[in-house]
Amino acid sequence: MPLQIEEIRATYPLRPIHYFPIIDSTMAEATRSIEAGESDGAIIIAEEQTAGIGRLGRAWHSEADVGTYCSFILNLPVPAETIPVLTLTFGLATAEAIEKAAGVSCDLRWPNDVLINHKKTAGILIQLHNHTVIAGIGINVNHTSLPEGLRTPATSLRIESGQPQSREQVLIELIRAVDGFCKMLLEQGPSTILTAFSRKSSFVMNRRVVIEEGPTVQRGTTAGLDSRGFLLLREDSGAVKTIYAGGVRPEE
Ligand code: BTN
Repeated sequence: MPLQIEEIRATYPLRPIHYFPIIDSTMAEATRSIEAGESDGAIIIAEEQTAGIGRLGRAWHSEADVGTYCSFILNLPVPAETIPVLTLTFGLATAEAIEKAAGVSCDLRWPNDVLINHKKTAGILIQLHNHTVIAGIGINVNHTSLPEGLRTPATSLRIESGQPQSREQVLIELIRAVDGFCKMLLEQGPSTILTAFSRKSSFVMNRRVVIEEGPTVQRGTTAGLDSRGFLLLREDSGAVKTIYAGGVRPEE
């Protein structure tokens, strides 16, 4: 069944919510909207994306009728170096929304993955365009199966909860949670977000992990986040390295 966009608009009547049955990517549409003068707080929502973008230039599987694909346009007064903290902020919001809407517990994997039972169910992508933040969120909601052979096995809220979920409710909770965590970031500062993320994520502290950054593979134990939101890794030599990008997975 197509998304009942009027249910979401009725919950947030003052919010510009732009709905597209099919689009290349909500990130690309957000960029076009900013150039056309779109205002702070607007949300681009698509039923299906033909060129959904993931982190590190990967594609994001964006099948119609089953997923949540959206981008928030936000004029947050934060410097460019705060982007890592923004990714964590939106991860926290997405986990909270999923937990409230579907009643399943989430883990957060630095920097941008939302996991349920060790499988990926949502991802965050933050971009800046002319100092405006575009925060893209993709959530697998009602998929009954997902492509095999993904870097991280994927799942959906339906698979994990054992029942279909309301995509409208997921979006309603998501907008509420995004507003709440952005307020927290602006009013209490990045350190509050870093603390909240560290509490919510099983990956941030004392976790044996493998980190792949391009051709480089590193192993070690996670040792928290630095003040900018980057991950700290204690190598077996005892040296602590800062991880700026790359994929984190548990050591087998
Ligand atoms: C990732 O985990 O790699 C990030 C995935 C982000 C996907 C979302 S879906 C909505 C928005 N539009 C896109 O093209 N990408 C983001």
